Amino acid sequence: MEDTTPALQARDLHQIYQEREVETVALRGTDLVVEPASWTSIMGPSGSGKSTLLHVLAGLLRPSAGSVIVGGKDLTRLDPGERARHRRRHIGVVMQRDNLHPLLNARANVALPLRLDGQRRRRAYQRADLLLAEVGLADRSRHRPGQLSGGEAQRVAIATALAARPRVLLADEPTGELDEAMTERVLDLLDDLRKRESLAILTVTHNPQVAQRADRRLVMRDGKVDDGD
Ligand SMILES: Nc1ncnc2c1ncn2[C@@H]1O[C@H](COP(=O)(O)OP(=O)(O)OP(=O)(O)O)[C@@H](O)[C@H]1O
Ligand SMILES: [Mg+2]
Repeated sequence: MEDTTPALQARDLHQIYQEREVETVALRGTDLVVEPASWTSIMGPSGSGKSTLLHVLAGLLRPSAGSVIVGGKDLTRLDPGERARHRRRHIGVVMQRDNLHPLLNARANVALPLRLDGQRRRRAYQRADLLLAEVGLADRSRHRPGQLSGGEAQRVAIATALAARPRVLLADEPTGELDEAMTERVLDLLDDLRKRESLAILTVTHNPQVAQRADRRLVMRDGKVDDGD
């Protein structure tokens, strides 16, 4: 039977950053439901809260208020250790920068979430090799992040995010460093996983090539998401 529960459900998210005496309200009552096998794209001006939203949805940042339910658990109620474990299994994340461990080569980076989750070395590395081949990097698997081009590192980050077969992929400008042809290849891979594995995809992007793949385009303004269509 097909699973009809949402892949991700966020309710009434608020995030207030306090930096000395400056308070920034980055999220002010954001709701979002993401269905399995769907692709949502979020656009919005710089500073509107897009990266903050993704950090909260990924459980990397605990919001000031609100809930995020993924895989039957509210991330905001888990302690940091449980949250990290739950994220590793259910959520793939590609952030705007610094996604890779600088001392590990590409295949060790991709295998890392699986190794941390207790998978055997051989299986984890097999999966890493497969994913690196899928993003066109079979011949870069022994390179460390510092030895990769920006676009190569970005593709390793995408492979890493997909390693554990997450139900949700959250990606902040995931193709920002890729040329048009490579962007197309990566988007095809994501779309294929969306169809085959019911992966739910949420991309933050200004790139029309990426936004066009989405079945829903949302706009974020001043800490809130509205329906863009
Ligand atoms: N760690 C932080 N401490 C204090 N303020 C922050 C922090 N992170 C973000 N902000 C502020 O929160 C607001 C939203 O930032 P965010 O990074 O979510 O925007 P964004 O929509 O991703 O922008 P961009 O398109 O430039 O990436 C901004 O005003 C930013 O200055
Ligand atoms: Mg951002």
